[in-house]
Amino acid sequence: MAICPILRMGHPLLGRLAEPVTHFDTPELHGLVRDLRDTMVASQGVGIAAPQIGVSLRVVVFSVASHPSHPDVEALPFTVLINPVLEPQSTEMNEAWEGCLSVPGMRGIVPRYNHIHYSASDIQGVPIRREVRDFHARLVQHECDHLDGILYPYRIRDLRLFGFAEELLLDRWVEK
Ligand code: NI
Repeated sequence: MAICPILRMGHPLLGRLAEPVTHFDTPELHGLVRDLRDTMVASQGVGIAAPQIGVSLRVVVFSVASHPSHPDVEALPFTVLINPVLEPQSTEMNEAWEGCLSVPGMRGIVPRYNHIHYSASDIQGVPIRREVRDFHARLVQHECDHLDGILYPYRIRDLRLFGFAEELLLDRWVEK
C-alpha cells in the first residue's frame, strides 16, 4: 500500500494530456490502481486521476459511500476507468459545488452535463459502458477532465462562486 503525495494546481504535470494505457492486467497497472485507491481513501476523496499522483496515464478511480445528509449523492462502488471516453447525451447542464484533492480547501460552482454515456476498460481490459446522470455523471466528468489537463476552476463561469470551503457558508447555498 502506498499513499502518494498529491500534486496541486500549478504543477505542470496536471496540465498535460495523459497517455492512453496500452497493456492491461500488468503488475504496474495493478500497482498504480492500488496507489490511487490508497491515496484517495487516505485523503477522503471520492475520486482521483493518475496525473494527480504524478502518473500521466488515462486512469481514474472513484468510490462513493452513501451519506445520510446528502441524499442527492449516489453511492457508487469502487470503480476503475481506463482510457475513458465521454459522450454527453443532451446539451442540458446543471451547476453544483465541486472540490478537488489538487485544489485543497477550495470549492466552486461548476457546470456539467446532466446526462452522459461513458465507455472505458477495466483493469483487465474488459469494456465498461454506462449511461449515467447527475452526481455520477458530474464525478466522471470531473475525473476525466484531469486526463486532459483540465481542473474544475477552469470551468467556473462566475468566480464569485469560487472560494475557500470554510468561508463559503455552503449551507446557505445548499438550502435554497
Ligand atoms: Ni479533481
